Amino acid sequence: MKVFVAVFLCILIVRNVRAQYKECRNPNQRTGQCVDISWCPALMKSRSTNSGVHFILASFCGYDRNNQALFCCTWDSDYDGEASNVLPLQDTCGGDIVNLNILSGKKTVISEFSWMALLYYRPLNGGNLVHKCAGSLINHRYVLTAAHCVTGRYILGIGRLVSVKLGVHDTRTAKDSISMAIEEIHVHENYTDGYNFLNDIALIRLESKVDYSATIRPICLPSTVGNMGMSMRDGQLLYVSGWGRTLNGQSSPTKLKVEVGYWNNIRCKARYFEQHIALKDSQICAGGQKHADSCEGDSGGPLMSYHQGVWVLQGIVSFGYNCGLANWPGVYTKVASYDYWIKEKMRP
Ligand code: ARG
Repeated sequence: MKVFVAVFLCILIVRNVRAQYKECRNPNQRTGQCVDISWCPALMKSRSTNSGVHFILASFCGYDRNNQALFCCTWDSDYDGEASNVLPLQDTCGGDIVNLNILSGKKTVISEFSWMALLYYRPLNGGNLVHKCAGSLINHRYVLTAAHCVTGRYILGIGRLVSVKLGVHDTRTAKDSISMAIEEIHVHENYTDGYNFLNDIALIRLESKVDYSATIRPICLPSTVGNMGMSMRDGQLLYVSGWGRTLNGQSSPTKLKVEVGYWNNIRCKARYFEQHIALKDSQICAGGQKHADSCEGDSGGPLMSYHQGVWVLQGIVSFGYNCGLANWPGVYTKVASYDYWIKEKMRP
């Protein structure tokens, strides 16, 4: 009789516990129970890492009667696989299959600058998608571009940004390229849509992760290689690539590249002051050689340095005084100044 009562009680308790906790799905799409975090050993463990904390927040599943937050408990302590807020290490990013010697030519070969992304917009009158800006892939999930490519007056006349194309060499064929939908766009909070384009930076989160391939790879951020651009010398060569407007006035169907010399900020600020444009230290100038410049359509694309086999994203094409004029360098957003901003915005 005693045994019978004990078993009966046990069954009652188990049923009660089950009924009390709702079923839920965690960020890895596993089913669990929605409980107070202190009841969940796996999530208690997550608290010690950055990505674990993200994982806990993403596991939120509601409140209990006392307004205490509940979290979806399984055996998982973290995301499956590599989280999307992790930046690639130097051995994965910024590598190019091509030898730098080819750079004297103007055309790029297919696998060169394989982090370059094209931004596609839906024209206001409907019609086919058009590309107006570029960007750079920095990991499996994020593309860095200029704020003026995704917001503000520049974008008003163009239309809504709808997709990002990766792995493109020739926009006419776009063989092997993949088109990615956009999940989220982070525009810098202090982007000023004024003459000096301060904080001209935005981060695009793709709808899903992209796999790297010969034609799709990420570029390194300055902090990844410990090169924050402090030691750049006047005239040091940097590189810009894009599908923007060329001398014949039209955008280029194939990806082009050009060498541009670095200008120190004092000199560049003085130059732009003549146009009543006040530059800041969060901007980099490069170019100023006749006909060697970035131009319309190149915006958002990369200004790159190359050192010991690694390409580093030093700048983002922002604006200029016309294009390709002698002694008028182009102005770029200085990526090293936004290292913290970028990492803070990226989510797993
Ligand atoms: N604002 C231009 C664009 O939206 C980029 C201009 C770059 N100009 C220059 N001279 N470097 O495409």
